[in-house]
Amino acid sequence: MGDIEDIISKVREKPELKGIAKEVVKRAIIESSKGIDISNLGKNDEKIIVKLARELLRNKTGQYRTGKPVETDSMRHYSIRQREKFYPLLNSILDSLKVKSILDLGCGINPVFISKPGMKYYAYEIREDDLEIVMKHFKENSIDGTTKIYDLMSDSYDFPETDICMLMNVLDGIDKKGHRNAHNILSRVKSRIIFVSFPIVKLSGKKMNRPRREWFIKILDSLHLKYYTLNTETESWYFISREEPLLQLISKMQL
Ligand SMILES: C[S@@+](CC[C@H](N)C(=O)[O-])C[C@H]1O[C@@H](n2cnc3c(N)ncnc32)[C@H](O)[C@@H]1O
Repeated sequence: MGDIEDIISKVREKPELKGIAKEVVKRAIIESSKGIDISNLGKNDEKIIVKLARELLRNKTGQYRTGKPVETDSMRHYSIRQREKFYPLLNSILDSLKVKSILDLGCGINPVFISKPGMKYYAYEIREDDLEIVMKHFKENSIDGTTKIYDLMSDSYDFPETDICMLMNVLDGIDKKGHRNAHNILSRVKSRIIFVSFPIVKLSGKKMNRPRREWFIKILDSLHLKYYTLNTETESWYFISREEPLLQLISKMQL
């Protein structure tokens, strides 16, 4: 049967998975094959592994996609559509804090809405198509930005030191069991402030029954991280830091 490149191409045939970086798809295939030698797969086994890898990747990212081409639907991200009203507020917080550098993990196309000339922006994502949009925006607007294919589930934590780290609408989906990845990332980020958000409405638009993530509060407490929270219509926000004066500054803003 086909080699790994063929299997990667098969997995990416689905429109919603097309943009995911090859190395991330490859890891999903290896994880789905559970030790089976993928260089010598029968037709049926290959079908099963392709299906499992797709499921795995959809859980990471596909469910937020409409599958429409990028050029015709730049607002296709669910979280972006939901957040339209909040961006001006978010930008005013960044201005007030005089933010000069941002690390955006699982960034999607969020950097397009908040990066500015004069800022150093690190945009990390598993989707190549999103990173292409972000890089185009950096170039067209002379922004000192870097894009990187990065998997939050990969146990690699080589993060740059920045004023802010953003983990927006991404932490719910990076642990299959427990919250090890979320814990490790929060403990390794070197930024002075971390902005985290979680959705509090379902894709259907209905409010979630239990929007509060107790597990997340436990992680913050265990890492002695202080936080200030704020709920918008669709998201729950956590502004996190070890530096209390910074949090006080945020809490005093007219949010
Ligand atoms: C709901 S979207 C949020 C995008 C952006 N942070 C925002 O708030 O606008 C979740 C994003 O996380 C990315 N993602 C999901 N799993 C990831 C992982 N393991 N590593 C890196 N990014 C991931 C998805 O590709 C998707 O762009």
